[in-house]
Amino acid sequence: MSEGRRQHVPWKAAGRATTRHDDADSVVRDTGWVFNNATGRELTLEQFVDSGEQEVGAYMQCFGFDSAENSRSSIVEIGSGIGRMTASFTRRFAAVTACDLDADFLDRCRDTVTAFGHVDRLTTSHVADGRTLSLADASADVVFSYITLQHCDPADALRLTSEAFRVVKPGGRIVLNYRTWIGRDVVLYPAGVVTRMLWRVPVLGPWLSRQRWSTRLGWQANRLTPRAVVRHLVDEGIQVSSPELWFRTGHRRVASRGGVTGFRVATFEGIDSSHWWLIARRPD
Ligand SMILES: C[S@@+](CC[C@H](N)C(=O)[O-])C[C@H]1O[C@@H](n2cnc3c(N)ncnc32)[C@H](O)[C@@H]1O
Repeated sequence: MSEGRRQHVPWKAAGRATTRHDDADSVVRDTGWVFNNATGRELTLEQFVDSGEQEVGAYMQCFGFDSAENSRSSIVEIGSGIGRMTASFTRRFAAVTACDLDADFLDRCRDTVTAFGHVDRLTTSHVADGRTLSLADASADVVFSYITLQHCDPADALRLTSEAFRVVKPGGRIVLNYRTWIGRDVVLYPAGVVTRMLWRVPVLGPWLSRQRWSTRLGWQANRLTPRAVVRHLVDEGIQVSSPELWFRTGHRRVASRGGVTGFRVATFEGIDSSHWWLIARRPD
């Protein structure tokens, strides 16, 4: 079993768990924490979707794509989960394609958007192999991904980055979130590798993959630096225009510009200190 497949385990386990509930609030109470880390027996789908609305609004405004044009535009969301942010996108964009590794999540995503968004604007697309989008070239105005690429095998995260540039239209916008190294990764990263190995052990593995502590330890399958992603774009011959790197305000990477030249560097206090964003356009 390759590392890339091991890291799919907790998502499939959470996907199966969503099918065990008839009502959406119970789905959020049981599995919502895998998306926004919120727990509690009083959680509701409405609160869950509202957390997505707040984040979508903040990031769109910060990254400058909160425009009236969106009502005529299309967006692809890589790693939609059960639609925490997707509902918000359907209220802002004319067409939304929600892509996810887990097909059960996509079914719940449709339910979420039916309740809190515009389901007539939604298409779902299963990322069956975790690395290929079943979408046409140059078919979307925006490609967005949040807290998803960090959960992919590094090669898959880079492949999905290439896929984002393939499916976005010339002149369209890429908005991708990654996780990079932080000090405590010296301990966390090896522990995560061991945890992912244990997920494949019969009996123990399926139980472990449903435990919050184990999932949180093992589900981050890569750390990608801005340099690694930019090197990948160069190696693949992918052209970018107006490229920007975004970091948390005051982060030490701002001074080093992420080790990348030729990209505008910007900051936002709402960005997690372990995260960074690649914002760019595909050249016309
Ligand atoms: C932490 S959740 C974030 C979901 C959503 N972006 C949000 O903020 O609520 C990560 C999502 O990425 C999906 N995912 C993980 N690996 C993936 C892959 N290789 N391809 C597509 N989706 C993937 C998971 O199934 C899960 O729904």
